[in-house]
Amino acid sequence: MDKPVVENQALLTSALAGLRATPKTLDSKWFYDATGSTLFEEITQLEEYYPTRTETAILRDQAARLARHVPAGAALVELGSGASLKTRILLDALPELAAYVPLDISAGFLARTADGLRAAYPGLNISPVVADFMQSVTLPPTLTDRPKVAFFPGSTLGNLAPEDAADLLKRVRDWGHVEAFILGVDLVKDPQTLILAYDDPQGVTAAFNLNILARLNREVGADFALDHFRHEARWNAKAARIEMHLISTIAQRVQFGGAEIAFSAGESIHTENSRKYTRASITQIAEAAGWRLDSFLTDPKQWFGVCVLTPSLYPA
Ligand code: TRP
Repeated sequence: MDKPVVENQALLTSALAGLRATPKTLDSKWFYDATGSTLFEEITQLEEYYPTRTETAILRDQAARLARHVPAGAALVELGSGASLKTRILLDALPELAAYVPLDISAGFLARTADGLRAAYPGLNISPVVADFMQSVTLPPTLTDRPKVAFFPGSTLGNLAPEDAADLLKRVRDWGHVEAFILGVDLVKDPQTLILAYDDPQGVTAAFNLNILARLNREVGADFALDHFRHEARWNAKAARIEMHLISTIAQRVQFGGAEIAFSAGESIHTENSRKYTRASITQIAEAAGWRLDSFLTDPKQWFGVCVLTPSLYPA
């Protein structure tokens, strides 16, 4: 029997809904297949992509200060742990930590990361949980009465729709026995620096964005002509966000899943948002979700912020 063209029904359903909408969108969660994950790793190493190295430097410089928010015997719970590279900086500064709980949707990635950490931190209980942190997460029952500290680096909060970001902050607040939330957020800065970080001259970010179309070709049998779409990063000052778009350079039609999608010349597919914060804006978002900003750690240029949130009463 022939291999079916549609390998990924969920991708097909999501892409059809997004491309039939006005304006057209594609959900950024589809970026991360094997090719996309490799390209993303490359992005984090780019000279122009300052967030990774800036956040890493803050964590390294202020590890002792962050450690004061993590009580002895606590569990560190990381949302979307990926390779847990930044985590090692914290773990090295936390000899009294009882458990590390990485949450990630990729089971394979999670298992490899956990094995690596078990070898490096033999005294630490490593309890990976395969979970989508956008859904409600069931933590291991052994953690119920333990003090917990949440860790969410990478400014991933900024990739969520504002209502989803608010939701996530509230859900973590409600885990119970949460002592602190260490949250990395990228900060508003001059638009040129921001745009360059999302549109590097080597074209790695462009390849990352275009890979979503290549993936539709591979997995749902679409016929996107990749050389008739180009990557664009835009600074939306009003919404304080970088937007990633794929622009159709000509009028064209694309077919997949029995549908035909028409593009006019210059029409965009909006694929990603990356919200940028100020100390004031993140304070407001945190307070509305039942947190207070205890510390705001930043780099000398104030390009990135590592927030320490502590639970407060919900606003009335
Ligand atoms: N959260 C990071 C950011 O917004 C990483 C990220 C998510 C990203 N999607 C991206 C980086 C797309 C570059 C391109 O910067």
